[in-house]
This record gives sequence, C-alpha cells and structure tokens, in this order.
Amino acid sequence: MADRKPEYLVLPRRLSRMREVLERRQKDLLLFMDRVRNEHNFSALLRTAEAVGIHRVLYGLDEETERPPVNEAVTLGAHRWLVLERVADPAAKLRKLREEGFQVVVTWLGAGTRDFREVDYTRPTVIVVGNEVEGVSPELLPLATHRVMIPMVGMVRSLNVSVATAVILYEAFRQREARGLYEHPQLSPAEIEAFLRKWAYEDIIAERRR
Ligand SMILES: C[S@@+](CC[C@H](N)C(=O)[O-])C[C@H]1O[C@@H](n2cnc3c(N)ncnc32)[C@H](O)[C@@H]1O
Repeated sequence: MADRKPEYLVLPRRLSRMREVLERRQKDLLLFMDRVRNEHNFSALLRTAEAVGIHRVLYGLDEETERPPVNEAVTLGAHRWLVLERVADPAAKLRKLREEGFQVVVTWLGAGTRDFREVDYTRPTVIVVGNEVEGVSPELLPLATHRVMIPMVGMVRSLNVSVATAVILYEAFRQREARGLYEHPQLSPAEIEAFLRKWAYEDIIAERRR
C-alpha cells in the first residue's frame, strides 16, 4: 500500500512558516520558572521564550491544584507553540538535567553572582527564574552551575521577572545566532513531522470540537 500523505488543515504558506519555526527550535535551551505566579508575568515569559526559539518551558508551582496562570491575551497564542512541562520536584529535575549535560544558570540577587553576559549560552542551558517576591527557591541554589545577575545601578533592587528573563534570553539568542545554532535543525525530522501534525491538524480539530 502506498504511504499516505500527511493531512494538514492549514494553507501551504502557513505550513512552511510552521516548518521554518520548528527548524529553528533550540532543543537545548530551556527556561525553568520557579513559582512565577502572576498571570501577566507567566504569560509574558512564555511569549518571549517562544520568540527566541525555545521549545520547552518547565515550571513549578507550590500547590498541586494550582493551574498554570496563562492569560491568552498576553501570550497571544505563544503557549500553544511551546511544550509546557510542569515539574513536581524542581531540584530532582535540575539534577537530572545536569546529568544530561545541561548547565544550570540560576538568576540570583544575593552574593556570589556573576554578570549574566559572562556565561556561554551556546552550551546546553537551563535558565532558572524565580518568584516575584521570594526569587528562586534557596534549595535550588546548590544545583547552579552559574548564579547570574543583570547589573543595576538604580535605587530599585530588582527587575520585573519577565523583563529580566527577556534580557537574558536575548543574550542567549544573540550568542546562539552568532554561533549559527539557528541554521541547522535541532529537532529530528520525525519530531518536526510530529509537531507539524499536531499544530496543523490535531490542534485544529480539537479547537473545532470545543
Ligand atoms: C522581583 S525578583 C525577586 C526578588 C527577590 N526579593 C530576590 O531577592 O530574588 C523576581 C525574579 O526576577 C529575576 N530578576 C529580577 N531582577 C534581576 C536581576 N537584576 N538579575 C537577574 N534576575 C533578576 C529573578 O529571576 C528573580 O528571581
């Protein structure tokens, strides 16, 4: 029997755009949001992550029953193009990522930090950002390969978390672009086809059924 061609429900131009996006996804650049609770922040972070080609965003919340605070008016759909992974045990997850070869870059406003621009973000990297009031959980600190801070010379003691994350992600983007990491797909052909099937067929069917 001849192979059946995949079925898509989008126009060819939209399909090409989806393929181009998937071909630039940075599989080895992750964002971990540690108890980011504000809906606007959580959603703005997803939007920026998607814009720089992040494929997978991890997040932890205190309560098991707490829903991820996604506001579609802020994400403008970015959450639909990302793999969003809820993490029950952040320390175990970061430990595992380190074992897999990821460096863990923790944003930290206390002592022992380095300027965020000194880090090489072309290496497999997970960037950890923290809660609006408490920052990153102290128990995650020992897992940091680097503790980083964006320099500030004003009276305020911190930046808004979505602003700080955008600054760091765009430095990672700049370095990775210069190194040519967006020029060759990191997702395998099979992964790209699976996501095209999801985006251009399954999600559309699911949306119509809603
Ligand atoms: C409002 S801050 C938390 C402030 C908290 N009192 C602390 O000491 O961490 C929320 C998050 O934004 C990020 N952030 C804010 N300002 C930053 C800076 N100057 N450098 C790096 N990250 C920053 C960090 O991820 C931080 O956990």
